[in-house]
Amino acid sequence: MTSKLEESKKQPGEDVNAHLFSELQIRGVKLRNRIAVSPMCQYSSVYGAVSDWHLVHLGSRAVGGAGLVMVEATAVEPRGRITTYDLGIWDDKHIDPLKALAGFIADQGAAPAIQLAHAGRKACTARPWEGGKPLGRQEGRWQPIGPSALAFDKGYQVPAAATDDDILNIVELFRVATKRAVSADFKLIELHSAHGYLLHSFLSPLSNTRTDKYGGSLDNRMRLLLQIVSTVRKEMPDDMPLLVRISATDWAEGGWDLEQSIQLGKRLARAGVDLIDCSSGGLVPDAKVEVSPGYQVPFSDAIRREAAVMTAAVGMIKSAPQADEIIKNGQADLVLLAREMLRDPYWALHAAETLGHKLPSPPQYVQV
Ligand SMILES: Cc1cc2nc3c(=O)[nH]c(=O)nc-3n(C[C@H](O)[C@H](O)[C@H](O)COP(=O)(O)O)c2cc1C
Repeated sequence: MTSKLEESKKQPGEDVNAHLFSELQIRGVKLRNRIAVSPMCQYSSVYGAVSDWHLVHLGSRAVGGAGLVMVEATAVEPRGRITTYDLGIWDDKHIDPLKALAGFIADQGAAPAIQLAHAGRKACTARPWEGGKPLGRQEGRWQPIGPSALAFDKGYQVPAAATDDDILNIVELFRVATKRAVSADFKLIELHSAHGYLLHSFLSPLSNTRTDKYGGSLDNRMRLLLQIVSTVRKEMPDDMPLLVRISATDWAEGGWDLEQSIQLGKRLARAGVDLIDCSSGGLVPDAKVEVSPGYQVPFSDAIRREAAVMTAAVGMIKSAPQADEIIKNGQADLVLLAREMLRDPYWALHAAETLGHKLPSPPQYVQV
């Protein structure tokens, strides 16, 4: 008998009914459509707590018809914050406000997801609208941690190279954060292993020059992420999906690339990851990124086919027909939108109109 999971892993390219507004079953969670709000840091927290801003910002996008709403990179420890104002999940005090947020999103018919993150060597900067630069000595900075003592860029602090104990502690931080996310009623969890942050920096040979079992060979560089995956999977109910966001390439000579991402995708799928969210870049400041509409879709497509795992596409997906094509062509199971969702919280409702699909408006907005 084929399990629900295997069923849902069928290539949508083979399924003539797959389109942007078809449902997606991932383990025990059914998304009402294939449109997701991509995680976006809001830098609007005090001591990591959810604020009214989060409720209005994410709540309105759930009202806007998306199938999944992902809460921004949420730090598993204060040291892993990009800025002092990042959202966090390192304290039990964070659970109740997160629960209220997840509850509101779910009440609107969207699946609430949370991205668990650690900024690694890219921690400790000012907010983008305050210049985004690494914090100075007088600005309350802290000591970041990374795989090796290599700074991200000029002006950034050299991170402390993680010891064996630090690594055990990092795995534990993700475990406890997962437990809190489950108690806060999130329906899906995503691990942030992209954009040069801690987990990605262990994967790439450009940031990881360790000579122990966490560096060197591909197996060694993947070890930390795979340990975290197997640990957090045990904290999650069986029917709860686990996603991992990766940077499919560093866009840099000698760095992480698509071939390694495919190998990683296979290992993650075997370890119980349900969907790979395919982004790119962020590891080195001088990456040569070729940006154009849907430029990361080929990564999602390749990983989906080669690693036989569900994937999501993200990056410069703007129009409804473009998003619909990605799903119909079987290049991804889900599309994530970030900046378009900032421009239009009702993107999904507008996309339904454009594609001639009937998506019910929230009852409060229906004209009598
Ligand atoms: C304001 C803002 C904040 C972001 N924060 C995060 C984040 O917390 N986690 C993450 O993985 N990506 C983050 N990103 C990247 C987006 O999720 C997305 O991958 C990227 O913007 C490309 O998609 P787009 O072309 O639809 O904007 C952020 C992007 C923006 C614009």
